[in-house]
Amino acid sequence: MSSRLVAVAAAMLLTGLIRPSMATELSFETFKPTGVPEYDDAVRSYLNQTTPKIINGIAAPPNAFPWQASLGVAPIADAGRAHFCGGALIDATHVVTAAHCVAGLNEIQLSVALGTVHLDAETKRLAVRKIDVHPDYRAETKDADIALLQLEKAVTSNTAIAPIAVLESTAEGAFLAGGVKFTVTGWGLTSVNGHSVRDLRQVDVPFVPAETCTDPLAYGSRVTKNMICAGSVNGDACQGDSGGPLITKGQPPVLIGLVSWGKGCAVAGKVGVYSRVANYRGWILAQSGEPPQ
Ligand code: ARG
Repeated sequence: MSSRLVAVAAAMLLTGLIRPSMATELSFETFKPTGVPEYDDAVRSYLNQTTPKIINGIAAPPNAFPWQASLGVAPIADAGRAHFCGGALIDATHVVTAAHCVAGLNEIQLSVALGTVHLDAETKRLAVRKIDVHPDYRAETKDADIALLQLEKAVTSNTAIAPIAVLESTAEGAFLAGGVKFTVTGWGLTSVNGHSVRDLRQVDVPFVPAETCTDPLAYGSRVTKNMICAGSVNGDACQGDSGGPLITKGQPPVLIGLVSWGKGCAVAGKVGVYSRVANYRGWILAQSGEPPQ
């Protein structure tokens, strides 16, 4: 190319007239951080060729959590390496996830994997038509940490793919009680410095009452009415599990929370904090245009 052409191409790039094809040009030079830490970390660890990395869980059997979604960095072909957050299918075209996983991303930057516990280069990935971040979401406080993804094409339910019902506020009382256990699932770190997981993991986490979680020695006022605490030193979610489902035990399970934040993972007194989905059932219904499942 002549220097003049190079200058024109550079100007077009700068003005956004042409976009480097993301699939071929993911490199340190071209990668612009999106500001979503999980997304940017997945890209960096891919570029660094390091292995990205639930605490104390067990491998989830195939088809046991058919609503589980993996959000992936679209231009990374291997779904295992592309994974940056979890999500839950709530009807044929909608996946609910954490707002902090997708706020600021463009639809073409991510893709969704459903219907598998194993993520690899063969995993089928679905395009996202629309990212809807809850209007009350605040990055600084992680309040209202919920977003809806509308899939480009509806998925058909089968043994591997099926939506989960969103808990109704009127039914919450029975679950937000001492001694209740939930299950959380995800492809996130198995220890703070753990290794990559390609196979979905599950762990049971005890409900932690708001009084305990808002204790000054725990999280104080950082835990709002839109959050639920759960976990112990024997079981927690961790980085990479964000946006993924916290479900009730018993049949059928219902979605009660989404992995949102925590200090470290499985740290004494610092349990996992989840978005309280029952508070957003009305919003989900209004956005998705159909009663969740
Ligand atoms: N923010 C983390 C993520 O994006 C989730 C952290 C959950 N931490 C916890 N200890 N439960 O993956």
